[in-house]
Order: sequence, then C-alpha cells, then structure tokens
Amino acid sequence: MSMHSRWKSAICIASTLNFIYAVAKDSSPANVTLDVATDGGNKSSSLLYGIMFEEMDHSGDGGIHGQLLQNNGFQGSSLGMTSYAPVGDVDITRDTSEPVSEAIKSSLRVDVPENTTEYVGFANTGYKGVPVTNSTYNSSFWMKGDYTGKVNLQLVGSKSGKVYASHNLTVNSTTSQFVQFKASFNSTQSPDGDNEWHLTFDGSKVAGDSLNFGYIELFPPTYHDRENGLRDDLATVLEKTNFTFLRFPGGNNIEGLQVDSRWKWNTTIGPPVDRPGRESDWFYPNTDALGLDEYLWWCEDMQMTPILAVWAGKSYGGILSGSDLKPYVEDIMNELEYLMGDSESKWGKMRIENGRKKPWNIEYVEIGNEDDLTGGCDTYPERFNQIYKAIHKKYPDITIIASNGDKSCLPSPVPKGVILDLHLYRKPDDFVALFDEFDNKPRDQPLMVGEYGCRNTTHERGVYWSFMQGTCSEAVYMIGMERNSDIVKMAAYAPMLEHFGYVAWSPTMYGFNSSPESITPSTSYFLQQMFASNKGDTVLPVKSSTEFGPLYWVATKTDSQYYVKLANYGEDEQNVIIKIPKTKSGTLKMLAGSQYEGNLPYSVNLETKYTDIVQVEGNYTIKMPPWAIAVVAIE
Ligand code: AHR
Repeated sequence: MSMHSRWKSAICIASTLNFIYAVAKDSSPANVTLDVATDGGNKSSSLLYGIMFEEMDHSGDGGIHGQLLQNNGFQGSSLGMTSYAPVGDVDITRDTSEPVSEAIKSSLRVDVPENTTEYVGFANTGYKGVPVTNSTYNSSFWMKGDYTGKVNLQLVGSKSGKVYASHNLTVNSTTSQFVQFKASFNSTQSPDGDNEWHLTFDGSKVAGDSLNFGYIELFPPTYHDRENGLRDDLATVLEKTNFTFLRFPGGNNIEGLQVDSRWKWNTTIGPPVDRPGRESDWFYPNTDALGLDEYLWWCEDMQMTPILAVWAGKSYGGILSGSDLKPYVEDIMNELEYLMGDSESKWGKMRIENGRKKPWNIEYVEIGNEDDLTGGCDTYPERFNQIYKAIHKKYPDITIIASNGDKSCLPSPVPKGVILDLHLYRKPDDFVALFDEFDNKPRDQPLMVGEYGCRNTTHERGVYWSFMQGTCSEAVYMIGMERNSDIVKMAAYAPMLEHFGYVAWSPTMYGFNSSPESITPSTSYFLQQMFASNKGDTVLPVKSSTEFGPLYWVATKTDSQYYVKLANYGEDEQNVIIKIPKTKSGTLKMLAGSQYEGNLPYSVNLETKYTDIVQVEGNYTIKMPPWAIAVVAIE
C-alpha cells in the first residue's frame, strides 16, 4: 500500500494495536486516577483550534494553491527564466516589450529558425517538478502572433521523456493582441515528480518568425472544483483536521520588506492575469493567485471562520504612523467594504463582479502582525487606535485582535473585547514550563495564540521536522490552553505547510514535494487533528490522584460526549484510570512513539491509532506509553 493511502486509511480504520497494548503490557507503571465531574466547569471557546497560513516555504504558490507551473507570469525581479526551457531547436527569451496585461508585464518569446519542420515550443518544470497523477488537468495560456493551427500540450517525464498526457487544441492567434486559450485533458500517473509541462506548435508555420506566450497555468483537480482553487489533495489533508478558523495572510508576509512591498489586498483580487504579484518577505516572488477572495472561498469550503489580518503600518524597511498612516487606514476600510459591501458600494460591487455575490462574513480582524517586534512597539498603540476606531465605528460587531500581548506595546487601556494575540515558538521543555501560563490570567482579557509550534533549532530533529517529544510538549501546552479556553479564544498551530524543495522555515504541520506520494503529515498534524476533532463546549473539573506532570489532562463535554485529552511528557509509562459515572463505551485515539521519533518525507511511521473501549462501570484504564498523546471520547 502506498505511503499516502497507508496513513490516510489508518485514520479511518480502527486498529487494535493500542488496545492490545493498553490491556496486555504490564510493567507496573505509576497509577493516576482522574475523577471527571459530569457538571460544573467553564465554557470552552468553540473556535479554539485553528491554523495560521501565510505564503512561505512555497506553501501557497506551488503548494496548496492549485497552479503548478512556476514563474508563470514572470512576476517579481528574482526569477529570470527559472523553470523555462526550449523544446526543439528554438530560442526562448523573456520579452518585456510584449506584456500580457497591465499587471503581467512580460511574456515568453519563442523564436523559430528558418527551415524548421517539427513541432517546437517550450517547457515549464514547475516547482522542482510537476506532480502528475491519474486525473484531469486544466491548462491555459495566452498567445500573440500569427498562427492558426494545432497547439499540443503535454505532461512529460523530464529525464524519461515518457508522455503521461498529450492534448491538441486548435488556436487562431493574431499579432493584434494576446488571447487566452484553455484546455482540459486526462493524464496517467507518473512514478515520480520529475515531470514538466510542454507547449509545442507546428514550427513549419512559424519558421523564421516568432510567437509570444504568457501567463501559463496548469491545475490538477481543485478542492470543491473551484476555478483558480486549491490543490484537492493538499486541501483534503487539511480539511481532515477539522480546524475551526484560518488566520491569514500572515505572519511576516503581510508586513513587506518595504512599505511598498507589503501584502496589498487590492492587487490580489480579480482575474489572476491582472495581479502583478510582489516580492514577499520569504525570499521569493508571490504570484498572489491565492488572493483575498481565494482565502475566503477556502474558509467557506472548509467551514472555517476567517481571521483576517490587515496591514497596520509596519514593514521591515519602515513604519508609518500618525497622519502618514491615514491613507492606509482608508485602504483597510476599502478592503472591508470590498468584503462586506453591497452592490451599491464601489468596492462591494467589485467583489460581485469578481464572482462573489453574497458579502463575506468577517467577524474578526487582526491589526498587524507581531507589532511588539522589529521596531513596531513604540508606535503600535497609536497605529492600533487609529485603525481600531475606524473599523469599530463602521463595524461595531467585528471583534478586533491586537497583534501582541506586551502591555508596553498596546494602548492603555486596551478597548474592551479586543483579543490579544500571542505567538510562541519554543523548545519542548520551555513549552511544558508554560503549561499553567493561563491559569492565573485575568478572566476579562480574551487571548489568542495566533502562532505556536515546537521548534528546537539547536537539535537536529527539531530543526527539520516534528518529533514525539516536541509534539507532546505542544499537547501539554494545548491542554493548558483548553483548560483556560474561557479566555484563550483561539489557538493556531503554525506554520502550516512546506514544499520540501523550498524550506525557509521548518517544521510545519505537513509537507510535500512534486512526487505523487510525498504528502507527509508530521506528528504535530496528528496531534492537531486529534485535539481539534474532539472538543467539548464545557471544560469539566477533574479530581486527580497526582499533580500535573509528566501526565497532563483536560476533560470536556458536549451534550452527548465526554472527551478526556491526555499527554505523557516523559519516559515512563503511565497507568491512567479515568472515572466518568454512568458511561460505558467510547473510543481511544492515541499517538505514541519514542522521544526523537517522527515522520519524515516518505517515512510516515507514526499516526493516530483508534481503539474501541467498553467499560460497564464508567472506569476506563488507559496505559499511556512514554511520549504519548491520547483522546478518550466517551458517549
Ligand atoms: O510562522 C513563521 C513566522 O513566525 C511568522 O511569519 C511570524 O509571524 C512569526 O514570527
């Protein structure tokens, strides 16, 4: 069975492995008894577990956004001819004298020598290869130049030359303007990711002359069949986490290396060919084909609440405040009108023209990102107030989030109801030390942990990818948050996704490359999925026979279920007896492995195991192996 389908099916099929382990192994572990109260306790935030997404590590371009060809519009200044190669005896050059649109300022010129008799053209090698699977692809290109006849599109093995898909379309192109041509075709599966997309035409008809091509696109099946949508395979893995919210579009990437290269909402809307792209904060140009509306379709299709971050004056190359910020506050108001305005409004009308009739539902707006850092602290209170006042006046129901939790970088007082966003990347022991961080915080100041993840950059396992100790430390911290989810309203694991060929920041929750079987969920993915999919609306009091550590727990309930989450952050097995009166059956979900074990690309060893549990008297004995995370769900 392939790696991909192996871990996928393990999520669905109950395994008896842990059950056997749970009842048969006995090395006299420590006993911990947890008496779960069936009532009382605090309300728990329904939004608690979500995810943060920003364009980095090619998480979007060449990642979850479906378009597979790199440098498809020659956006940005750093890529040159990256990913392009001639097919046949032709010269290919970037032609700035023939822009495809106002935004896409150049095209690819193919010069065909005299006496050519063959099909010739060009290749695009994608993001270190093109994933080629047994499915239907949609491709398009713009073309200018005198040509009537066939254009052939292919998906081809780069080294093998093996053709997985070949499709002819007839075009009628002239020298007067660029025209877009579209095609849809089936492909067979390539064994690897070493593939490229070819466009060729009858060279005999162009011999001694040239044709221009631009803004090429290739999409595999997209999530919910959306045009310009997400890659279905990568999105489906995310969907299975059952996250409740998406925080976007950054992160550092909203800020910009300079004010002018900030993430600009209004250049990420409309037809992708009209989006100029930008130099991002993460060392490669962004196409912005995954733009504002696409983020919101994503939220809607995955039933996640959007947490929209807006640019608040801070870039890495300069900060705007006071009257200098005013035009940008107006720009935020335009953005919100675009998202929520009706057909009578200037910007609302534009959203409708761009394909979204109903206003988007924006309930949360975050002002900036990490304004306690990189020189933002001093001016943030004033910048926050300007933006807060403008938004709050027009949209009093929107909950505003401040981008940090440092009192000295916040307005005083913080307006009532404003959520403070804390970001935490920590080594394992440091995360565990923060387990009780929220226990004694004021109950009237709502919080969000808008980014967190275990990152141990001084340990070889921690630099690259999650491992069990790190994931267990995240579980301990999450249990601490869930116990306090009357004030911790939202928590987003970050970053979400990496292309293994372009890593600037790791670990991420899952990763992939161009090979068809490469999608790799980390151990932290399985933790997030377990915790997000099994959450009550009330946190229940628990009477325990020991203090917290190395075993940590939280119990919650809904009208029909109890959930007990457990994390064993240590090397000794723990024998946990959970007592929930008047119950008798449920399931145990467990993720366990040795301290430094984790999932690596092409090696998904650890995944959640499911076991049915039955107990007549409401006492459940769970043997927690070392470095283990479990959820006991009881009906
Ligand atoms: O998630 C990676 C980065 O960490 C984010 O861009 C930034 O907000 C944080 O510092």
